Amino acid sequence: MQNLDTLLVGLRAAGEHTRLRILALCARGELSVSELVQILGQSQPRVSRHLKLMVDAGLLERIPEGAQVFFRLADHGAATQLARSLVELMPDADTGLNRDFSRLEQVRDVRAKKAQDYFHTVAESWDSIRSLYVSQQQVEEKLLTIIGDQPVRELLDIGTGTGRILEILAPHVARGEGIDLSKGMLAVARSNIESSGLTNIHVRKGNMYNLPVEDSSVDLVVVHMVLHYSDDPQEAIREAARVMRPKGRVIVIDFAAHSEEKLRSEFNHHRLGYSDSEIRQCFKTAGLTASTKIEQLVGEPLTVKFWQARRRENIHQLKSVQAS
Ligand SMILES: C[S@@+](CC[C@H](N)C(=O)[O-])C[C@H]1O[C@@H](n2cnc3c(N)ncnc32)[C@H](O)[C@@H]1O
Repeated sequence: MQNLDTLLVGLRAAGEHTRLRILALCARGELSVSELVQILGQSQPRVSRHLKLMVDAGLLERIPEGAQVFFRLADHGAATQLARSLVELMPDADTGLNRDFSRLEQVRDVRAKKAQDYFHTVAESWDSIRSLYVSQQQVEEKLLTIIGDQPVRELLDIGTGTGRILEILAPHVARGEGIDLSKGMLAVARSNIESSGLTNIHVRKGNMYNLPVEDSSVDLVVVHMVLHYSDDPQEAIREAARVMRPKGRVIVIDFAAHSEEKLRSEFNHHRLGYSDSEIRQCFKTAGLTASTKIEQLVGEPLTVKFWQARRRENIHQLKSVQAS
């Protein structure tokens, strides 16, 4: 907090019943205005006014994306600590808040079901869909170049889909595991792995926000074309950082920020790519050191970026960074 005035502006912005509810909700992930309207049961202009006040005071972050805007608790800036402290002070037993949280769960369940249904439907044809946007061969070649010849004992491919990344990296790692939420995708991945004859890779069901993987156990994490389906990229990266060994590496491959709105309706994308600064911020908050070198494959209309970071702290230092 820079000075008393900043504190006062933040406190005034938070000092209202609905605005406290919004803070509590946005601390649990990114939400669009229409989702907040649904949860709070208030009109859109009213909710938008509250949001504007809180964004202006630095309590919330506004992420505009094509026709949508998402809001989440600020994770940098002067009022970050105030926002976090207020959320920590929220009473566990408050009936109104708990009602909001269960409505939030319903909104999330609908979102998750939509995504699961989508991946279930496309699982069989995914390997052709995935190369609609950009040349997958180029992406794979670039990934192999980035990985280089540093030895990798344990690889984790988050959102492995049909297991393609595992297959191409298998010859370069001692052991690889792919995690995915979709049973349909996992079924295709298992059959692909079986036919490849590769024995050092396997897949299992899991959620990227709560990986079924031990702390500090992985040398290399790859998150390829998954984050644009995420409604909480910060949490996904934080969870990836948890399972990385000190000096372990993460490579996030996804679209640069774009405005191809149709990818939402046709391919169920949640986010229209990411800016370098947003990914860098996710890395920083998760206790990772971002590489200054960002590789890319420029395409029309979509550019694919390769963001890299390494974990610096041991788990105890990481926890103290998050708490500070
Ligand atoms: C676009 S596909 C990419 C698959 C793969 N990485 C590839 O490059 O072909 C995104 C994958 O992320 C998975 N996914 C989405 N949300 C997830 C979550 N919360 N946890 C784990 N996997 C998830 C989907 O099931 C889907 O298989």
